[in-house]
Amino acid sequence: MKILNLLTWLSKEKRNLNIRGICEQAGIPHQNVNSAINSLDSKFISAETAQKIIPVIEKFGFDTNANYFGKGTVLSLYNNKGGVGKTTSVINIGASLHRQGYKVILIDTDPQASLTQDALDIRPRKEGLNELVDILNDEVPVEEAIYQVYEFEEDELNEKYQHFDIIPSSTKNRALSKALVSGTSAISSVRCIYEKVIYHLRDKYDFIILDCPPEELTAEPALYASDYVIVPMAPNKMDASKAVNVIQTINDANRSKKENVACLGFLFTRVKKETKLHGNIIHDLEASFPTFNTVIRSNIIMEEFASAGVDVFRYVEEELNKSNGTIVPAREDYKALAEELILKLGKNGAEKK
Ligand SMILES: Nc1ncnc2c1ncn2[C@@H]1O[C@H](COP(=O)(O)OP(=O)(O)OP(=O)(O)O)[C@@H](O)[C@H]1O
Ligand SMILES: [Mg+2]
Repeated sequence: MKILNLLTWLSKEKRNLNIRGICEQAGIPHQNVNSAINSLDSKFISAETAQKIIPVIEKFGFDTNANYFGKGTVLSLYNNKGGVGKTTSVINIGASLHRQGYKVILIDTDPQASLTQDALDIRPRKEGLNELVDILNDEVPVEEAIYQVYEFEEDELNEKYQHFDIIPSSTKNRALSKALVSGTSAISSVRCIYEKVIYHLRDKYDFIILDCPPEELTAEPALYASDYVIVPMAPNKMDASKAVNVIQTINDANRSKKENVACLGFLFTRVKKETKLHGNIIHDLEASFPTFNTVIRSNIIMEEFASAGVDVFRYVEEELNKSNGTIVPAREDYKALAEELILKLGKNGAEKK
């Protein structure tokens, strides 16, 4: 819904324009509009509300038919629980968006460097490549730490976009985690550098996707330099309350205007649809929190893929046959997820770079 995209953009980019004030002028309660912005869910904005709010926004000089989401979108995948599919989702969302024609860069902010090393099979230290920590230490410019992940073998894409990009990481990034533990000024200065890195990339990519580590302190600067956070979680009762805390912390920071990051909600991963408990947990969380309708089903092939250094879209036909079709649901899920994401963000083909 265009009006929601515009309101979200206004609340993020034009923070001097107060959404509450706009609603007051339009004579509508601001709570629903804020809920819509926070969850990017247009169900909170009725047609009647839209009718009232449009003239007020136009009065401020904004064209309500224009698309203000032209710049690259920065997404972080974060949950303080390990092993929930953050890295797996970063690479597969990235690959899926890339396959749909968007220009994508992944940034590995995790000192474990599993995105770089396991999923993409790059070894910056061994191969003498530049990496994120070199940028953060101001030792190399951003452009010199960008690597092309690979070229697709299938010739189905526009030639220009036959690779997607990555800024890799390695255990060298651990020094950064240690510095962050030393105090909040370190956190804000690292965050500032992240913002500069992102500033360089925004005009060149449609999506900038950050893989975050589970440690809160190390993740924080990357998280709060992002536009949106997705919280992957396996529907496990023990983890649900922790994951709810993650969403609430991000929402509180956003509502208090302390931070400028919105939570897109839970992404359920490793879901066993036949398990009643999974269904119940998802159902309960859906009732109170923003969630993606698309869930990522549990699939043994995911583990094989991670160690094989590929995303689920890249398997060649021969391996596809060997996998006895188990790859198909994984592809379907991440394709559907990328489509849902594009819809939520109001991105469309016209913006592809
Ligand atoms: N849908 C899935 N079905 C089955 N296994 C999966 C699925 N998604 C991820 N996995 C496996 O779960 C393990 C953890 O996944 P992943 O590394 O993506 O989690 P993470 O949240 O990034 O972990 P960390 O917090 O350590 O960075 C990996 O072995 C991965 O292959
Ligand atoms: Mg990870």
